[in-house]
Amino acid sequence: MTQSSLDQHYNNIKDKTLLDLFSAEERAQQFTLNMEGLSFDFSKNHITAEIIADLCKHADDVGMQAAIQALLDGEQVNNTEQRPAHHSALREPSNASSTSAEVQSTLNKMANFVQQIHQQQWLGFTDKPIDNVVNIGIGGSDLGPRMVVQALTAFHQAHHIKVHFVANIDGSDLEDTLKDLDPETTLFIVASKSFSTLETLNNALSARQWILNKGCKTEQLQQHFIAISTNTTAAQNFGITENNILPIWDWVGGRYSLWSAIGLPIALAIGMDNFKQLLQGAHEMDEHFRSAPMTQNIPVIAALLSYWYSHYWGSSSHVVLPYAQRLSRLPAYLQQLDMESLGKRVNKEGETLHYPTGLVIWGTEGTNGQHSFHQLLHQGTQIIPTDFIAVKEAMSPYQDQHNHLLACCISQSQALLQGKTLAQAKQELKKQGLDDKHIDFLAPHKVIPGNKPSTTIVIKALSPINLGKLIAFYEHKVYASSVLLNINAFDQWGVELGKQLGKPLYKALTTGAIDPSWDSSTKELLQHLIHSDPS
Ligand code: F6P
Repeated sequence: MTQSSLDQHYNNIKDKTLLDLFSAEERAQQFTLNMEGLSFDFSKNHITAEIIADLCKHADDVGMQAAIQALLDGEQVNNTEQRPAHHSALREPSNASSTSAEVQSTLNKMANFVQQIHQQQWLGFTDKPIDNVVNIGIGGSDLGPRMVVQALTAFHQAHHIKVHFVANIDGSDLEDTLKDLDPETTLFIVASKSFSTLETLNNALSARQWILNKGCKTEQLQQHFIAISTNTTAAQNFGITENNILPIWDWVGGRYSLWSAIGLPIALAIGMDNFKQLLQGAHEMDEHFRSAPMTQNIPVIAALLSYWYSHYWGSSSHVVLPYAQRLSRLPAYLQQLDMESLGKRVNKEGETLHYPTGLVIWGTEGTNGQHSFHQLLHQGTQIIPTDFIAVKEAMSPYQDQHNHLLACCISQSQALLQGKTLAQAKQELKKQGLDDKHIDFLAPHKVIPGNKPSTTIVIKALSPINLGKLIAFYEHKVYASSVLLNINAFDQWGVELGKQLGKPLYKALTTGAIDPSWDSSTKELLQHLIHSDPS
């Protein structure tokens, strides 16, 4: 298969409408993939069976199957940092021969912490049981656990324990969280793979001071701090006792780490059994990714669709619309997962790329987005592939509202598909009794071109196992995309520059020492922020 056959497909299909494609009655069935608890309907995309076959051939040509095996077998797929990205090993069943002893022993240690806290045996410095747990972390040490804890609200156990998240260096994040908490009964989890992240370390230092100010002695701090890190020495230097440090490993990328001890807040919220169900769901997606043929492989098809739209249709963003309030944090989580992984400018060999790589990922929970940015989806000029995520079972006791929610979800994908023609718009206006002049003026504004691609993922219930599948699906979609783009999905060098530059700027702000060689905008901004306004 050559690239030119995809060019040809594009030329043949670009002027056909999605509605034309839907003249084949069986299209929805033909382009829906199912696995237990999750279905993936990609029929509302600009594709035919031949296009899918050739896209899959392209995946074959770039070595997709071998790349999938390499990922799941723990090979060094992260070639700039020379390490595996073996998050799938974290979710292998405990009886799997390859599950490492260190993964199992960490799970056991997590279970022990969860049990002590749930059973009110973990006591604070005044011997009162812990009732609030604050996760201090950022990026992958925050977004995944925060998203899952919210998504699985229906599975929360031990309601006497509340889990909170603090991420931002802006002290108001910490202040707003601590204001209703009692230092005597609050436990902090300092979650940082590197244990060197500015935001996390500063929040942790302030949290420590908050506890000390309330009478806790230094030697009692161990009753209030747990760390999760690869950097045990730094965690110990911070003052966290070795027994309270849970390991992660350099073969787990930060944005792929919710399955590790970084998931402790999840386990605290939903209990260990449910946490293991989450792992099980992800493992089932791993197995699907490993063994399903390309044309039926859900993450591979999703990656190929992204490739198709960004390389042939000029799409530069992708919107994710979960029709589930409790998945409202999913788009933020996916932003890091996808954009930190695919926002790259060179290939794995370091050569500059001349084709598009990562898309802008965005979205919000339905139906809120409908009253905000959906206007642009319907009548804007860009092609923005859309993921709708619907949950079959109601997530609240208000079943009728759930029916409205599902109807809204499907109606949005239908509207994107079919749109509204000028003739239809005119007819509607005529029915409303408008005169011809008014109709001619107004009708073009009411035209909705339709023909906008979307995919609808339906999960049966928002349960730990299905959520595990959904998250792992997106992880593997990102990896399969990186294989198509020939980029390393597991490094993130781009975030380092800002961190480096931040250090002298912090010094300038705190000491007034402005480097004369800095650009004039930077110097002016600093002057403005350092000096008080003349009154
Ligand atoms: O700065 C980006 C990043 O390195 C992410 O990749 C990571 O998830 C986040 O910072 C937090 O890192 P850590 O867990 O080491 O504090």
